[in-house]
Amino acid sequence: MTTLQKTSPARFHHIRVLSDQPERLVAFYERMLDLRVVGRDASGIVMTGPARGIIVGNAGSDDAPYYAYAVRDRAALDRLAQRLGAHAVDVSTLDDPLFEAGAVRFADPQGRRFVFGVAKAAPGLEGAPARLQHTVFQSTDLENVVRFFVDAVGFTLSDEVVDDDGRLMVAFLRSDDEHHTLAFFRGSRDEWDHHCYETNEWNDIRDWGDRFAQAEIPIFFGPGRHGPGNNLFFMVTDPDGNRLEFSAELERVDADKAPGVWPQSERTLNSWGRAWIRT
Ligand SMILES: [Fe+2]
Repeated sequence: MTTLQKTSPARFHHIRVLSDQPERLVAFYERMLDLRVVGRDASGIVMTGPARGIIVGNAGSDDAPYYAYAVRDRAALDRLAQRLGAHAVDVSTLDDPLFEAGAVRFADPQGRRFVFGVAKAAPGLEGAPARLQHTVFQSTDLENVVRFFVDAVGFTLSDEVVDDDGRLMVAFLRSDDEHHTLAFFRGSRDEWDHHCYETNEWNDIRDWGDRFAQAEIPIFFGPGRHGPGNNLFFMVTDPDGNRLEFSAELERVDADKAPGVWPQSERTLNSWGRAWIRT
């Protein structure tokens, strides 16, 4: 089957978040993530750093947050738009400050907004290693959203977590060679779970941990190692309560590898110890 990984690899590129206190959030991402304000436009305050970007919009606007993935060129974007059209997905174009003109926007079956585009050339930026790499959601309609991202968008199922009755609890999806660029947990609510920054190695996890310690921002999950993806991680929150993950050693997966199945347990979500089980 044709997949993004095989034909149009897509990497998680930037996010647009909405905030009641945009300036407070901007100050956090400047100080803690080495992001810099590069512009202000209708979409919000545009911030970039090395291999990461955030647009902070005003929660008062009637617009939605979105999650943006970069493909390598216009031809790849056209292929994706065609695929979405063939699955009767309503597609529109969007002017995004970090993408070339003609970025493609669509909503998943539960209304989350996604944007795919070709990244504008980024200036050389300094900062600690943290490449924006994946995002995760909790969903009350897990099977349906996973089917949408596999069939209509072209993600590949890397691993699934199932409960004792065989019911799907978590699905990890990839759009390039990395184990997951998107994942969904079964939840009692539909909410944004977290976004993740991939570092270069374990020592970077230490350094990020020390940076948050200095700012007196406590780790709420980890450090540990996830079963699916095999990555080292810890998680903190920003001032709005959005959850950030820092990761290292995320597994790379061949395009034709069959999905793995993991039991729903603390050890699956954190082989080092206690886990955060979403409910
Ligand atoms: Fe994650």
